[in-house]
Amino acid sequence: MSGRIPQSFIDDLVNRTDIVDIVNARVTLRKTGREFSACCPFHNEKTPSFTVSREKQFYHCFGCGAHGTAISFLMEYNHMTFVDAIEELASNLGLEVPHENYHDPKKASNDDLYALLKQASTDYQEQLRNHSNSAQAIEYLKNRGISGKTAKEFSIGYAPPDWDHLRQRLGQGDHKQKQLTLSGMLIENEDGKRYDRFRNRIMFPIRDRRGRTIGFGGRALGDGKPKYLNSPETPLFHKGKELYGLFEAQQALRKITRLLVVEGYMDVTSLAEHGIRYAVATLGTATTHEHLSLLFRTTDKIIFCFDGDRAGREAAWKALQVALPTIHEGKQINFMFLPDGEDPDSLVQKEGREQFESRINQAQPLSEFIFDRLSQDVDTSTIDGRARLTELTRNILSQLPGGVFKHMLTERLAKIIDIDSKRLTAFITPYEHTKHTKYNRKSKKQLTPVSFMIALLLQQPKLSVLAHDFETSPDMEVPGLHLLMELLELLRKNPNLQTGALLEHWRDQEASRHLFKLAKWQFPLAKEHMESEFQGALKQLKTKLNEQMTEQLLKKERETGLNDTEKVQLRHLLTRGTSVDNDHPT
Ligand code: GTP
Ligand code: MN
Repeated sequence: MSGRIPQSFIDDLVNRTDIVDIVNARVTLRKTGREFSACCPFHNEKTPSFTVSREKQFYHCFGCGAHGTAISFLMEYNHMTFVDAIEELASNLGLEVPHENYHDPKKASNDDLYALLKQASTDYQEQLRNHSNSAQAIEYLKNRGISGKTAKEFSIGYAPPDWDHLRQRLGQGDHKQKQLTLSGMLIENEDGKRYDRFRNRIMFPIRDRRGRTIGFGGRALGDGKPKYLNSPETPLFHKGKELYGLFEAQQALRKITRLLVVEGYMDVTSLAEHGIRYAVATLGTATTHEHLSLLFRTTDKIIFCFDGDRAGREAAWKALQVALPTIHEGKQINFMFLPDGEDPDSLVQKEGREQFESRINQAQPLSEFIFDRLSQDVDTSTIDGRARLTELTRNILSQLPGGVFKHMLTERLAKIIDIDSKRLTAFITPYEHTKHTKYNRKSKKQLTPVSFMIALLLQQPKLSVLAHDFETSPDMEVPGLHLLMELLELLRKNPNLQTGALLEHWRDQEASRHLFKLAKWQFPLAKEHMESEFQGALKQLKTKLNEQMTEQLLKKERETGLNDTEKVQLRHLLTRGTSVDNDHPT
């Protein structure tokens, strides 16, 4: 739906981002020489073979071969799409992502949809004040303990009972109505008739982190069915990715030190009403990986709040499974369970902020929740029971990235089952290849001049100035030449590109693997020597090209004859000899 993101923006973004910060926010890195390293987050290992290079702006794992740029890292680690990863990096730098719009006027751009939803939200708020039915809606909110101030902070509104309120207000013309349908605000029936999706409901706009309205949740007044109606999946709204109340929490708090995850819209607004401004709600879905990564991008501490009943505990256990792989040092997850029959809304109204917050403060740490749960059906006083507990825990631990937290859990388990923690570690750590195929340092002799030049350019893109006037005919048969020329052309236009940004140009292309291979190579020479090496390789390449060109011309002369330009060229090549620079009569 959205337009293409210009490559120049991606260049700039990757160039200005420091991959070390991006990775380190998710996996704790240690400085080792010129690079940074950690246990690889993409496979299970005990000794670090994952390295991040600040100089080259990319990461690489010698164990499993995972590699990429800051963009790739976010895509792999946080399961983001390419566009999401770009958005994330851009928002870190405070940049707006430009989209080159398609020139198809029938297609709605996301900007149009955002604008429409913003208008819808404004209109619903206006209806809450002015519609002939608004007294009823206001009464409902009052009864539920929501003040005008909170209603305003959350931009709560009211969708009137009419079938065509929004269509009349915002749907002038077929094009607008199509956009409204696409954004989920109108429904089109089989006869092509369009009508309002939300009628006679309290409207909660759902906003993204930047405050743009991307969808709505609408609550029936009283006992109407369904109780809640949400926007459908649209180009802007993806239920499993969004958290209700996150934008509002960011607005209300200067620093978000923790986030409380609850289930309902009303829980969020009611907690806010009582001064607890750090609650967010999933939108009627189970917790997803996307939720977790959004949460951990915002804060280090998450408290999941669930009902104390069986269903609540099951939901918590599910959330835990999703959360495990995302837990890194410095990140914390706690679980709190509510008394039967209560939800955060009812409870905070009953007992007030202070008591409710003391419940939050006493929430169960993740490790406790795990062992409680696992020990539930196991008798830890018997050997069999302890073996069973170990088996169950092995499963959990294998999902955790290495680090302090994993270590801590292991120690704890060792205590419970009463064995030595080293023996336990050995037992619960799945077999790993201990001999990492140490990266094979390619010697320069194994590389052709072209590959060697590409490798050097990837180490130090600035070397490209040494080849600023190098040209060649496109039909020379030298493997990799085309790639080299593309690389040089790119650097000619944009001499400041760093390795990571360069590599991004070959995303999803065949050549990408090869380029990463050359890029990760740790060049054994000092920078000063790279220049002369590069020049040497360039000279070799030119010689080779001249030889090839001479042969081609001679062959053509025999077969079909040469035109005037070709004759001059051949004479030039032959008189100057094939081993001499052809374009620099120095
Ligand atoms: P109140 O009854 O207004 O207090 O709502 P609640 O927030 O306590 O809702 P509840 O615990 O029943 O549900 C939690 C969340 O699940 C809601 O906020 C909705 O996101 C979602 N939900 C509940 N009922 C429905 C429904 O009928 N349809 C849909 N699509 N979602 C629902
Ligand atoms: Mn409720």
